[in-house]
Amino acid sequence: MRTTCTLFGPPSFFVRRSPNSFLFSVFLTLTLSLLSCFFFSFLLFTKLSEASTTAIMAAPSSKTLKNLNGKWTMNKTLSDSSEPVLSLQGVGYLIRKGISLATITLEVEQYEGPPKPPNTAADVVTHIDIKQSASGLSSTQENRCFDNFPRDHTDWLFGTVTGRSRWVSLDEVTDEFLKKGWEIEGEGQNFITNIAENKEKGWVAEQVWGFQIVDGERRYCRHVVVTKGAERAQIRLVYDFNEE
Ligand SMILES: *[C@@H]1O[C@H](CO)[C@@H](O)[C@H](O)[C@H]1NC(C)=O
Repeated sequence: MRTTCTLFGPPSFFVRRSPNSFLFSVFLTLTLSLLSCFFFSFLLFTKLSEASTTAIMAAPSSKTLKNLNGKWTMNKTLSDSSEPVLSLQGVGYLIRKGISLATITLEVEQYEGPPKPPNTAADVVTHIDIKQSASGLSSTQENRCFDNFPRDHTDWLFGTVTGRSRWVSLDEVTDEFLKKGWEIEGEGQNFITNIAENKEKGWVAEQVWGFQIVDGERRYCRHVVVTKGAERAQIRLVYDFNEE
């Protein structure tokens, strides 16, 4: 008789529950609903902001490495995940997740002018100033000067990094991954390379920039290799062109 009662009566965990654990489960349910609500509105927000950018996708023929001026958006469908590279660069888990969800845009300003200090030469060199933003996170500003002079740069994402940029021909690129896949548009030193080192965290990031035919269209791409001791991570990033 007793067994039947327990079997068909109200579930024992309801009966035995103290008021405290009841309050706790109400609290837990509310917190969880609130969290998922935040999460889905964030997802919706990123999806909406992605949809509202008017991407032209392919780079117009006027866009070359000599003229990257304009706004570009990283195409996450065509790009490799940044995860392994960011992880090797010591970027924390939550920020990596945030970056993987965000829309990454580049605002590029390119011009010729005298080099920045400490280079005192009177030559005219290429400058590429880029503001990189991730929707929902702070942006970073990196001003590159193409004279191969090492300069320090500090931002919230990568810490203090010593970087240098220059024009190269693919013959000068030794790494197989950095060297391959590029459209050859013209002769001589018409590829961009940038080497950045974080001495404190012990990593070196080397990039080559150029154009590639991806999914049938000409696009601005970056190959990135990060090494830290014997560890190595490499990715290809592909960008959609948005506007001038
Ligand atoms: C990325 O590239 C694909 C394939 O060309 C394209 O369909 C898509 O619209 C592009 N942009 C984004 C934001 O996914």
